[in-house]
Amino acid sequence: MPVPPPFPISRPRRLRGLPAVRDMVREVTLDRRDLIAPLFVKQGIAEPAPISSMPGQYQHTLDSLRKEAAELAGVGVPALLLFGVPGTKDGVGTQAFAEEGIVQQALRALRADLGDDMILIADLCLCEYTDHGHCGTLRPDNSVDNDATLDIYARTAVAQAEAGAHIVAPSGMMDGQVAAIRRALDDAGAADRLILAYAAKYASSLYGPFREAGEGAPQFGDRTGYQMDPANSDEALRETALDVAEGADMVMVKPAHAYLDVLWRVKQEFRLPTAAYHVSGEFAMIKAAAEKGWIDHDRAMLEILTGIRRAGADTVITYFAKDAARLL
Ligand code: PBG
Ligand code: ZN
Repeated sequence: MPVPPPFPISRPRRLRGLPAVRDMVREVTLDRRDLIAPLFVKQGIAEPAPISSMPGQYQHTLDSLRKEAAELAGVGVPALLLFGVPGTKDGVGTQAFAEEGIVQQALRALRADLGDDMILIADLCLCEYTDHGHCGTLRPDNSVDNDATLDIYARTAVAQAEAGAHIVAPSGMMDGQVAAIRRALDDAGAADRLILAYAAKYASSLYGPFREAGEGAPQFGDRTGYQMDPANSDEALRETALDVAEGADMVMVKPAHAYLDVLWRVKQEFRLPTAAYHVSGEFAMIKAAAEKGWIDHDRAMLEILTGIRRAGADTVITYFAKDAARLL
């Protein structure tokens, strides 16, 4: 038996008829204040180097980084996430925590330029700094040594805080990394600095272009021994619970677009300030399709960023930050 229509007939389209009414009833907003811009700074280059797989993105010099950060501040983006590409690499990633390491230099310069008006988030990992490209130090059998790595992360967090980072963001997926970093920051008199934990970070194909940008691809093997299996979301809740217990102030799901369900679960379960990282491959896919004329660049960008917000992200880390902020 067909169900009779309700009477009077229900007309949800009344909410869509006028642009002003659509604006009035919109549930989720995308604002420039919701965006975080990832930036790369490379030691020892004279000119910014374009990243071919990420149109419009550069490996910056200190000077071009400062200019870019000022532009971002000018369009109202409140925070940036900084990655460094060092001049030399070694087994332990010494340049990650060296006082004159490129990220520490960059943090000091940006803090001097922008003070507390731009939130400086330092990505905290070793893969850009180790000659083997893994996110931790290695045992003689080439496996990643979790607990030895924690000591290096702790030193790196302190170096980044001393150089001016407001927030450190450990991305290496070592067990216990948030606790180790929290303790080190507190002991170093940096109890005021926040930790943005890459709580649920998946072993994703979508980091491909980043590896060109960060020059941190593993020289052998892959990251499946420490990053998460894309098939799992219960595990994401367990990972997040641990990071929260260890002292994370904010949590992250990464990537974003293919993991909106995970993002939703993490936000609903913990109700914490939650970031989603729209990663390099997700950015590159939109750029490539738009270049071919197959999708509309700006509409696709704003729709996907809005979808990430709708799924529960308070803030979206995105290479589109400047483009989107200009439109919002
Ligand atoms: C390194 C790191 C990666 C990304 C952020 N930090 C790459 C990886 O884990 O292999 C990826 C970001 C992106 O693709 O935009 N720990
Ligand atoms: Zn890493």
